[in-house]
Formats: sequence, C-alpha cells, structure tokens
Amino acid sequence: MTNTSRARSFDAAAAAYGASRPSYPPVLLDAVEELAGFALAGARVADIGAGTGLGTALLHARGSRTVAVEPGDGMAEEFRRRLPEVPVVRGDGNHLPLRSGSVDLLTYAQSWHWTDPDRSVPEVRRVLRPGGALALWWNDSDPAVPWIGEQDARLRKFFGAAETRYDERARFRGLPDGIAFGTLRLPWSRRVPLDVHLANLGSYSDFLVADQEEVRDFLAREGELLAGVFPDGMVEETYVVSLAVARH
Ligand SMILES: C[S@@+](CC[C@H](N)C(=O)[O-])C[C@H]1O[C@@H](n2cnc3c(N)ncnc32)[C@H](O)[C@@H]1O
Repeated sequence: MTNTSRARSFDAAAAAYGASRPSYPPVLLDAVEELAGFALAGARVADIGAGTGLGTALLHARGSRTVAVEPGDGMAEEFRRRLPEVPVVRGDGNHLPLRSGSVDLLTYAQSWHWTDPDRSVPEVRRVLRPGGALALWWNDSDPAVPWIGEQDARLRKFFGAAETRYDERARFRGLPDGIAFGTLRLPWSRRVPLDVHLANLGSYSDFLVADQEEVRDFLAREGELLAGVFPDGMVEETYVVSLAVARH
C-alpha cells in the first residue's frame, strides 16, 4: 500500500466522511487569528487538502475570502455539493495552484501529513505574502478518556500498531524543520448517535485501506461494546485539536 493510494483512499468514502467526521470547535478559529496576528474577516485564505470542506466552512463563516484546494475527485465532488458558494481548485500541497505572494493565510486541516515537506514547504514560502501565516491542525481522540483509551487498545490490536491515536507530542514532532511555530492544544467534545461514531471511525484511512470484511466485523463488535457504555445510544467523543501556526 503506497502513501499515494492511502492519501486517495478518502475519495471512495467522501459522503460518509462529510456526514460523520467532526468539524472543529469555534475556539480553534479564535486561536488561529491570535497566533497569525490578524483577523480572518476579509483575509485571503487558501485551505489545502480541504476534503469535504469541514474546515473551509468555518473559515468561510468568519468572513474570509477562501479558496479550497483538493487533490481527490470524490472529496472535491462532495465539497462542491456541501459548499457550492466556495471555489474549490484541484491541486495538492506539493504543487499549489496559487499565485506567488497571493495568500494571507494557508491552512491544512488534518492534511499537512499527506504532503512531502521537501516540496510543500517551498510552496508555502512561495504562495504566502510577507507577514502571512501558515496554520496546521489535527483533531485527535483523547485516549486519556477511559472508554477511548480502551477503544484505542482494540484499534492498536486490530491494526498491529504500536502508537496510540493521540500522543501529546506526536503531532508537533512532525512539524517541518526550520520554521518557528506557535502551538496550542484545544480540548473539546461532541455527542453523536452511535452509528455516526462508527461511521466516523470507519472514515479513517487505516480502515479505508483495510480488508472490508474484517472492518465490518470490527465495527460491529465496537457497536456492541459501546452500546453497553452509552445505553442511551449517544456517544460522547472527546478530542484534542493540536494547532501550529507560523508567521512568514
Ligand atoms: C483527513 S482529510 C482532511 C480533510 C479536511 N481538511 C477536513 O478537515 O476534514 C485529508 C485530505 O487531504 C487530502 N490530501 C491527500 N494528499 C494530499 C496532498 N499531497 N496535499 C494536500 N492534500 C492532500 C485528501 O484528499 C483529503 O481530502
């Protein structure tokens, strides 16, 4: 399984992704403005790896002049269905379809890790105007919450993985060298029906590229276990957003 096929795995599941993945808490956009040093209203923003537009919708709602960039067919199609008022351009973080010095803020909502830093960092430097900012963020389940920690252990067993989904340092450890980032961790939660939680889980690339019969069995077992933890059928998902912002 190449990194490229993994990066494209979202396309076949774009509708489920858009319907079940969590958005981001409003405090995230406040933190982006604070660390970037300017307001989003009126700013020229490009949201790279925009997917179905979960992050883009929030940037747009703050009054930014936002354009989305997305490499995947399925994701771009779902984006257009969900957010027809925002332009989406086909392209990726390694080769931005944007003019030099034309952007105030570049955002990568859970997409920076799909880029090749040897190519994506120079592209960031080219496209940002002087004084512009780069914002990267990831939303991870918090395994310090007991039921999430237990689910995490089951996931690690299923995938044969050593690492938990969220390690305090892991996200920031992967930041590109030679750039000074301001960082923040923002905890938040949402309550969703059990079937939405399971669809959300199944929309991660690890599941999308795995044997689909085994995935169905795993998710069915998770459903049974979690029905015991959440008898009213509503799952409290607890997250930590790791945000890193650098000024150009
Ligand atoms: C986990 S999704 C995040 C989508 C969206 N930003 C969000 O917050 O829900 C990752 C996205 O990165 C896109 N992607 C894959 N390779 C990429 C690359 N090299 N540059 C930019 N985006 C990429 C995928 O197509 C997918 O839409």
